[in-house]
Amino acid sequence: MKVAVYPGSFDPITNGHIDILNKTSKLFDKIIVSVVHNVTKNALFSLEERVEMIKESTNHMDNIEVDSFNGLLSNYLQEKQAIAIIRGLRTVSDFEYEMHMSMMNKMLIPEVDTIFIMSDSKNIYVSSSGIKEAALLGGDISSLVPKAVNMRLGEKIKKND
Ligand code: COA
Repeated sequence: MKVAVYPGSFDPITNGHIDILNKTSKLFDKIIVSVVHNVTKNALFSLEERVEMIKESTNHMDNIEVDSFNGLLSNYLQEKQAIAIIRGLRTVSDFEYEMHMSMMNKMLIPEVDTIFIMSDSKNIYVSSSGIKEAALLGGDISSLVPKAVNMRLGEKIKKND
């Protein structure tokens, strides 16, 4: 079985991530979307909330599993017997960061390659932090996120008011 892991902070998952999943779900038997606790980022949603939102947003795809992990991605890939890491590329500015990360992962686990997928042009300006900022300031971001995320963002903003 060809298993790939799509790791990320997903705080929250956006239509940009869904686009990458729609494209790659045809290439693998199973994709594990895995939420990583990134210590360098201040998350709005808990790990559990992010996992829930991904489950709700991907329930139309039958080969997607949702999970989370702490620690090194390379150890997680080994545990899941994954053959690939999936990452999306939006603009050239993503490239350098992604290249370094893929090289580091290649050194740690040589048998796994990173597969890069270009984002649709309509998603190249979409980022989780941009969406959170716009939503918190009252902007309508409903066209950029799955319905479940739009709802939860609305609830979160009400709670934080
Ligand atoms: N569409 C829309 N947005 C996209 C996107 C796409 N196709 N691809 C990336 N993004 C955005 C995300 O929304 C996110 O936005 P934000 O910064 O505003 O939150 C940003 O691009 C990149 O975030 P993400 O894809 O979640 O990656 P990350 O940089 O937060 O984390 C990990 C990368 C989790 C894969 C990496 O940190 C990791 O592997 N951690 C585990 C520890 C480890 O093994 N470290 C050594 C590896 S080198």
